[in-house]
Amino acid sequence: MFAWPSFLRRKAASITRMQTKHSGAAARLHALSFARGWSEEEMAALILDPQVEAQALVRSTLLRGQTVDGFVLSRLAADEAEILTIAIDPDQRGQGLGRKLLSNHLARLGARGITVLFLEVEQDNTLARALYDRAGFVEVGRRPAYYTKPDGTRSEALVLKRDLG
Ligand SMILES: CC(C)(COP(=O)(O)OP(=O)(O)OC[C@H]1O[C@@H](n2cnc3c(N)ncnc32)[C@H](O)[C@@H]1OP(=O)(O)O)[C@@H](O)C(=O)NCCC(=O)NCCS
Repeated sequence: MFAWPSFLRRKAASITRMQTKHSGAAARLHALSFARGWSEEEMAALILDPQVEAQALVRSTLLRGQTVDGFVLSRLAADEAEILTIAIDPDQRGQGLGRKLLSNHLARLGARGITVLFLEVEQDNTLARALYDRAGFVEVGRRPAYYTKPDGTRSEALVLKRDLG
């Protein structure tokens, strides 16, 4: 049976603190994942903000260099934080990468003294809701007609909370 030589084989993704060199790839991934994208400059500004905890799942490939398979950003305020965004490359979803990235992120936030974490998720975002359920988030509120979909219809946001530590 044919086997790729080891140097061509797909390497496991590793989690790293985001740097501005990741901002272009992260902005492209964000645009694929959400109706309203963020520019590379907006992404770089968030990465450089000391009140933002930013981590990426990166993979080194021979042909394309380092690729960003996913990333997560949270804004910190005193001992609380809010997840601003989390996204995994569309071709790699459903393989446990989101769970791995989120669980590492929760540990990082805990290490920075965060005791409670919030986020908003669209009511019909099944994959994201499954991810947050599994990670121990609970619903603490709803914002009706919060999101505008590409077809102009509105959908509700759920506010979720997770105690840390
Ligand atoms: C939400 C997102 C980050 C999840 O990442 P992911 O790598 O796809 O998620 P995982 O593979 O770790 O799966 C998480 C959970 O989703 C569920 N799941 C996975 N694949 C699924 C599928 N095809 N159908 C239904 N549920 C599924 C599982 O319950 C899984 O948990 P478990 O395996 O521990 O039981 C990713 O789908 C994404 O980037 N979505 C677009 C951006 C987005 O909506 N972000 C969230 C904004 S609030």
